[in-house]
Amino acid sequence: MASDIRPVTQAEAKEYLRVLPYVNGFPQEEPEPSAWYAGSAAWPPQVPKSADELERDAQELLTDWFRPQAAFVDGKIAGASAIVSVQVTVPGGQQVALGGVTSTAVVPTYRRRGLLRKIMSAMLDDCRERGEFLAGLSASEATIYGRYGFSPATFQHRWEVRRTDVAFRSEFADPGSLDLVDGAEAAKAWPVLHEQMRAERVGEISPLPGKWDGLAGGGLPADGSGPAHHLLHHDATGAVDGAAIFRLPWSPDPEQAGVLQVEAIEALTSDAYRALWGLLLDFDLTKRVVAARRPVDEPLRWMLTNPRALKLTRTRDNLWLRVLDVRRALEARTYAATDSLVLDVSDDLYGAGRWRLDAAPDGAVCTAVNAEPDLSLSVNELGSLYLGGVRASELSYAGRIVERTPGAVSRLDALLRPDRAPHNAVGF
Ligand SMILES: CC(C)(COP(=O)(O)OP(=O)(O)OC[C@H]1O[C@@H](n2cnc3c(N)ncnc32)[C@H](O)[C@@H]1OP(=O)(O)O)[C@@H](O)C(=O)NCCC(=O)NCCS
Repeated sequence: MASDIRPVTQAEAKEYLRVLPYVNGFPQEEPEPSAWYAGSAAWPPQVPKSADELERDAQELLTDWFRPQAAFVDGKIAGASAIVSVQVTVPGGQQVALGGVTSTAVVPTYRRRGLLRKIMSAMLDDCRERGEFLAGLSASEATIYGRYGFSPATFQHRWEVRRTDVAFRSEFADPGSLDLVDGAEAAKAWPVLHEQMRAERVGEISPLPGKWDGLAGGGLPADGSGPAHHLLHHDATGAVDGAAIFRLPWSPDPEQAGVLQVEAIEALTSDAYRALWGLLLDFDLTKRVVAARRPVDEPLRWMLTNPRALKLTRTRDNLWLRVLDVRRALEARTYAATDSLVLDVSDDLYGAGRWRLDAAPDGAVCTAVNAEPDLSLSVNELGSLYLGGVRASELSYAGRIVERTPGAVSRLDALLRPDRAPHNAVGF
């Protein structure tokens, strides 16, 4: 089957959209209610886009940050994917360009004929040409993207807690204040707050243009989870240092009634964090709190007299990383110790290389060498290790890193040790 892979033009935008499963009302994920967001139904509602919606989306499709590529068979689009230009914060605080793979789909009648492989190669080549040394994605299925060098780098938890099980270990006198505000005020606060958060948080992604626009409108989601409510926390000087978005959906099912769904919560300070959770976990007329997309090292558990009250109901991989240029990636971050290791990194798409990493807390130099390696791994393992969310010892024990110099795995762990688990609250 002959195919031609190339960027989509404006004239082809509508045809491109028709390839995407969600446009056609096809399912996106296993339909576990509230599975990985806090809503009460599977996301998104399985309703095909109307002709008008298609027309509008096609007009807005091509921008300088959204780069779709398609596979054309006999002149028609048979599969497509896209790269969005975003940034990711790496250890040490640099915000580096990341080619974000999104909207991947092959028309069901053209599957398993190598179209995605061709599209992916073209897109990753494009990223490298633009100087993006990292690519990333979130995967609908975990078996698809490893073959292209992607591997899980951040993870997220969904947990719930019954209000009657909540007791805080200590009284908390908030030096600041909490305010319930409307969507318009929240829409002003969130971009600023997230920008401050992103500067500090390893793994956090820059929001796509328009990310916060919907807050001001306050529209009702189709799944019946009710209006969004907005909390802001101000510090003693009056500056916003925390925010939360939550919903209180009504349900005729007694099991589901009285649930407070936390959609987003960010805090720049421990005070804001404690104040926000203090109210959300003790909200009148509620029985249960559900929070999704939460970091794996949630401090809240340690605020409770019964840490087991916080029940983990789902853990999943979030950001998958693909290192496209080993030297530039390793030199872009800082390290928790000073050491030197030779890494032998295999890469099916771009070839193997041996690199001496001279790493230190203020940065690193990475040099191509011919020396004997201390460790052998593939670009996949490097993707999982890069932000510090997976330990080298874990991958080594699983047989995925070969230790050639005794002790080298522990030394790599010491270099990559993160202060906090990497986390991205925002995706693409
Ligand atoms: C996933 C999808 C894009 C793959 O496209 P495709 O053109 O069929 O993939 P290819 O033919 O290029 O397959 C490349 C390889 O991936 C494998 N593969 C493809 N889809 C797979 C899947 N869902 N699970 C496991 N392996 C898969 C193929 O077997 C092939 O393996 P090989 O390289 O060892 O031969 C396509 O099946 C699809 O559109 N699925 C529904 C939408 C979807 O899941 N999108 C992903 C959104 S994150």
